Amino acid sequence: MTAARQVVKTADETPARLTQVIRDVLLVDGTGKAGYRADVMIQGEKVAAIAPPNSLVSDDVIDGRGLVLAPGFIDVHTHDDTNVIRDPDMLCKISQGITTVIVGNCGISASPVTLAAAPPDPMNLLGEQADFQYPQFADYVTAVQKAQPRVNVAALVGHTALRNNHMTDLYQTANQQQIDAMRQQLRQAMAQGALGLSSGLAYASANQASTDEVKALVSELAEFNGIYTTHMRTEFDEILAAMEEAFSTAEHGKVPLIISHLKCAGAANWGRTVETLAYLEHQASQQKVACDCYPYSASSSTLDLKQVTTDFDIFITWSDPEPHQAGRLLAEIANDWQVDLLTAAKRLQPAGAVYHGLHPDDVKRVLSYPRTMVGSDGLPNDPHPHPRLWGAFPRVLGHYCREQNLFDLPTAIHKMTGLSAQEFGLNQRGVIEVGHFADLVLFDADTIADQATFAEPIQAAHGVVQVWVNGVCAYQNKQLTAQRAGRFLPRADVSSQ
Ligand code: ZN
Ligand code: CU
Repeated sequence: MTAARQVVKTADETPARLTQVIRDVLLVDGTGKAGYRADVMIQGEKVAAIAPPNSLVSDDVIDGRGLVLAPGFIDVHTHDDTNVIRDPDMLCKISQGITTVIVGNCGISASPVTLAAAPPDPMNLLGEQADFQYPQFADYVTAVQKAQPRVNVAALVGHTALRNNHMTDLYQTANQQQIDAMRQQLRQAMAQGALGLSSGLAYASANQASTDEVKALVSELAEFNGIYTTHMRTEFDEILAAMEEAFSTAEHGKVPLIISHLKCAGAANWGRTVETLAYLEHQASQQKVACDCYPYSASSSTLDLKQVTTDFDIFITWSDPEPHQAGRLLAEIANDWQVDLLTAAKRLQPAGAVYHGLHPDDVKRVLSYPRTMVGSDGLPNDPHPHPRLWGAFPRVLGHYCREQNLFDLPTAIHKMTGLSAQEFGLNQRGVIEVGHFADLVLFDADTIADQATFAEPIQAAHGVVQVWVNGVCAYQNKQLTAQRAGRFLPRADVSSQ
């Protein structure tokens, strides 16, 4: 036996797993409670000990003085479905301190999907036809496991994805036979570990779905402890009616509701988060509800003709027929072409856009609301993405927490960790506790800041010192490490499979 590496042996002669100690950090544990100074020991994939500062010993000590240790951030709203497989390093997320992404939001998911042609809008946000290779949810699980991404992955099933599997014309309400087929496919995906169902009723490809169609699907979820998340039918003037539909749909299925990227879109709607949050809070006394939000006053998606307006800037991020127009304002393009905005938008489609259509006060109000989690809604396949893809979580900690004092640090972290794990049912994650998985982020609370801007969106944040995923150091000193240790996270009650 060589003396190259000293491995501690336990009584039964099995080698004890190596430990790391993060020494004398300000531990903010994700519950929302105030931070305190401590040592934290990682052993294998778990947190093995939490003890007073400078009390734990290990061969591998990380100096945490002056830094905050928090649970790894959970990005509850992503469209990273195919990217975690095609680009498993996920630098855009790990560099923010994100250790888990939830995919399958807004009605679109990579699985279960069978595509006979190019993906319909907005499934094209997830990739091209060849990227959709998972006819069953279990195929997706296997592919994620094989790719071993740098972050953990949990997944919703998209309503639009199901529609696309069983309907030839998405611009209709599903008939009984199609609804039955979707229900059956949803049940199968739930049995294989999906978290629940997402819908994207604002998009044309799901907008003709009746409330009853969605209710029929949502009624399959309770048996599996599933959740329902929704990009609502509208975020514009009729938002209260859209919220009512979301509430009644979730209530029908007796499942928790999460409203995706809650916002008041459109100039006529600015200021109305006072009403929408009051409505949400009122409803919370009767059913389980929560929401997520990204920390910017601009939204982004495919270019939607219904959202074309002169009220605010619309920035084109990509265009299939006019690729050289990407990176310009729609108004400039229309002016060059000597046409109105709508004509220009039609000519650019299919295309992607950033809409500067939210009021900063509404963003603050939603972000600070106690039931709001942080989700980036980043679009990883966009060549000129909205800066939320690289900056959302550091922006909450730097801009909104430190600079604007919107909330204290433990509250900010709770919205990215403990609350998220609780609402999405991720066991033993989101809170730093002995026996929990060691998904951790070490950062400098005085300097953490997003660097991604609308002009230069592909920039890693400052102030993220080190990130661990399942006990493995995944990111350090602005560099990816050699090892990736992310896992597929099935819904809690199928974890044992
Ligand atoms: Zn959405
Ligand atoms: Cu989304």
